[in-house]
Amino acid sequence: MQQLFPFSTFFASFRSHEPAILIMPLLFCSLLLLLLLQMFLRWCQPRHKRLPPGSMGWPYIGETIKLYTENPNSFFSNRQKRYGDIFKTHILGCPCVMISSPEAARIVLVSQAHLFKPTYPPSKEKMIGPEAIFFHQGPYHSRLKKLVQASFLPSAIRGSVSEIERIVLKLLPTWKNRTINTLQEMKRYAFEVAMISAFGDKLDSEMEGIKSLYLCLEKGYNSMPLNLPGTPFRKAMKARKLLNETLRRLIEKRRAGSGRNGGGLLGVLLGAAKDEKLNQLSDSQIGDNIIGVIFAAHDTTASVLTWVLKYLLDNGNLLDAVTREQEGIQRKLFEANRGLTWEDTRQMPLTGRVIQETLRAASILSFTFREAVQDVEFGGYFIPKGWKVLPLFRTIHHCAEFFPQPEKFDPSRFEAPPRPNTYMPFGNGVHACPGSELAKLEMLILLHHLSTSYRWEAMEHEDGIQYGPFPVPKRGLPIKVTLRNKKQP
Ligand code: HEM
Repeated sequence: MQQLFPFSTFFASFRSHEPAILIMPLLFCSLLLLLLLQMFLRWCQPRHKRLPPGSMGWPYIGETIKLYTENPNSFFSNRQKRYGDIFKTHILGCPCVMISSPEAARIVLVSQAHLFKPTYPPSKEKMIGPEAIFFHQGPYHSRLKKLVQASFLPSAIRGSVSEIERIVLKLLPTWKNRTINTLQEMKRYAFEVAMISAFGDKLDSEMEGIKSLYLCLEKGYNSMPLNLPGTPFRKAMKARKLLNETLRRLIEKRRAGSGRNGGGLLGVLLGAAKDEKLNQLSDSQIGDNIIGVIFAAHDTTASVLTWVLKYLLDNGNLLDAVTREQEGIQRKLFEANRGLTWEDTRQMPLTGRVIQETLRAASILSFTFREAVQDVEFGGYFIPKGWKVLPLFRTIHHCAEFFPQPEKFDPSRFEAPPRPNTYMPFGNGVHACPGSELAKLEMLILLHHLSTSYRWEAMEHEDGIQYGPFPVPKRGLPIKVTLRNKKQP
């Protein structure tokens, strides 16, 4: 079969009787010329137009295959070692600049945030809803951010402690003497908490419908965006449409209800719409943000909680110390014959540091995506408009300069505050996570009851990580849960 430009033809063009010795210098000269030409072109390039160092890989596919075949952590750290803290690559069809120093990440996320807009695949925008907070910059984003933040401030969520505790006390006994999939159970928990955060704790009749439609939508999030009959994506889009209709009915009902907006984020968003008559939030803006917040609160918190259980399993002494801390609180509750309060959750310093260290060590959001909105000069390099810019949270969290012995799980490192801008499990700047306090609160409440009353053992003896989409222990950490023998630690 004929090849297009076969190497054999190239070499055959040299007559066979010509000595190979003539070919070698020729090849050497050509390579040298190419090298000189490349150096000359780089030298000619104006300094302010110099792209960051790095490899763009193969045409179109770039380095995507390498990213997927190598461990993603070593993919980034190998390149950082080779090229420095700012380097370019080409993945998933996009030219990208990777940022792995705290100072450079701060510029992208905080001080020059207006030059780098958040960017998501169009299929995700369609599923969550294009008017959700994540996809926006500028005045619309600021207005929404104030409302969402108001809904999740410590002063707003402190009243949810007993409701979250009620969810925990209902969930944990269902684990007793069973082998459970930790990730799936944590998802059940995080979902229940997300639902009361979004809608308040007074159950509207629409709630069951909303729950089952959301769970159907969720199945399509990480599927291929193929809008064909029978695909998970098509089913998810159908569920999203039905969710819109159900949410609209609920919004209408709450608006009509005797001047009260009801609880949760929905109540806050409806209140805002009433306050600012000239600039009301539309039903679809409210709906997209309700779905967006449930989405942001669900898999994230569940994945981190799965890691907390894994790290406590691997560090028995820490589990004992956490249990002692929690038993101190349990005694107080017993004497006063009451449940947990917000103040109790502020008296859990060691458990809090276990959560902080889990967020660092697991770094479930390894990076975030931004896009340059114009040509930008950055750290002595040029970033063309439209290029993706990725601050690498995990690489920063695993840098030995900021976190000595980064692979060691060591909550005591948080006895002193980390260096500024080196610890960003909840992001940084205008798009930083408004739900961080709620996420930590629900982890503390679950750990209080789990550590004082139960013990768990691993059913999978091989360590490993799976992505779905966040990194979690292999197979979602199957564990056997039993009641704790209180005579033992
Ligand atoms: C441990 C759990 C969580 C982690 C690790 C986490 C992490 C993050 C991070 C890193 C960002 C910033 C993304 C970026 O800059 O592109 C973010 C944004 C966001 N998170 Fe969280 N999150 C968690 C839980 C929650 C919860 C419980 C809620 C809601 C109650 C929430 C709501 C949001 C929202 C609405 C945004 C978008 C903010 C904006 O664009 O201005 N998150 N989260």
